Amino acid sequence: NCSPSFKRSFQTEATPPSSATSIPEFAFAFDIDGVLLRSSDPLPRAHKTLSYLQSQDIPFILLTNGGGKHESERVSELSRKLSVPMDTSMFVQSHTPFADMHTYKDKTVMVVGGDSDKCRVVAEQYGFKTVITPGDVLAAYPDIWPFSQQILPYYKDFTRPLPAPIDPSSPSTSLKIDAIFVYNDPRDWGLDTQIIKDVLLSQQGIMGTLSSKNGDPNLPNKGYQQDGQPPLYFSNPDLLWAAKYHLPRLGQGGFREALEGVWAALTGGPQNGVELHKTVMGKPHRPTYEFAEKRLVAHREHILAKHATTSELKRVYMVGDNPESDIAGGNGYESPLGTDWVSVLVQTGVYVEGSTPAHRPRQIVGDVWDAVSWAVAQEK
Ligand code: G3P
Ligand code: MG
Repeated sequence: NCSPSFKRSFQTEATPPSSATSIPEFAFAFDIDGVLLRSSDPLPRAHKTLSYLQSQDIPFILLTNGGGKHESERVSELSRKLSVPMDTSMFVQSHTPFADMHTYKDKTVMVVGGDSDKCRVVAEQYGFKTVITPGDVLAAYPDIWPFSQQILPYYKDFTRPLPAPIDPSSPSTSLKIDAIFVYNDPRDWGLDTQIIKDVLLSQQGIMGTLSSKNGDPNLPNKGYQQDGQPPLYFSNPDLLWAAKYHLPRLGQGGFREALEGVWAALTGGPQNGVELHKTVMGKPHRPTYEFAEKRLVAHREHILAKHATTSELKRVYMVGDNPESDIAGGNGYESPLGTDWVSVLVQTGVYVEGSTPAHRPRQIVGDVWDAVSWAVAQEK
């Protein structure tokens, strides 16, 4: 069911590249951590796989819950590491969708997570005009976190003055946060939890204040986050991910669960009718897959144009290592374009060979090369 001219057989040694006269009706979406890389180290057959697909003009994108750098920086780094030329048109990472959140571009936003203040820089490159970090708050008010003396040295090189003071006696001129975005895994769960808690329990995001409504039984959700407190966005739900260590590591989802625990202790939490209002993006959530499919279709159009040909995209093989994000997302995604998403689980990351994955993939394979060879064989 792919175009007749697509006769190239997929052998264990890729057949010599040939000029594609038409583009197959299938494509790939590859997860990164645990599929192509383990932290910064390429997995053994990642280069061979992506190079083969490019030689056959089979389109693919990289779809990761990772982040922390601008897309252009991350994709040129990946091109170097994998020795495969790629560009931002074939790349979607956890916070990429934040770039389209224009409502907050002229407001004061707090960006949490990532190395030093790289995520602030990304937010500014996305067009956010006033971006502060928990490190900025700590540098300006060391007493906001009782143990700051030991950790201030880490922050001193990349903090900036706050755009307004924290002065609860003058709420109208005190620093006001309009939205909180967790871009990447926090490096200091303690400080970041403290600062986020301060904002969420404040009066309308005004730092240094405490909302009198919080705990009011007459209010829905007992007033918590009903006093106009700013929205909280997470870019990545992953509780676990495949880093260098041989066992999966806690990801941004681990931080969120810890924050939820503190929230419950402070407010009574969900069993007391007080949910933590948040928006969690990233795989397996639909907006991320919709965003990725649009980018894949656009990238594929570019390849079609190069060959002055057309063909419809009918299937996308979602190759991942994490059943909770890659497989659940691939299985659950109902494409508005009618494209069939087929999930393929590899054994080089979070998923442990022989265990029963929480979300059943179409196929379980060894590594990314096996995933592509299985998929191409389905297309014969
Ligand atoms: O922080 C990265 C981790 O959550 C997993 O990334 O590439 O496996 O979606 P990835
Ligand atoms: Mg992964």
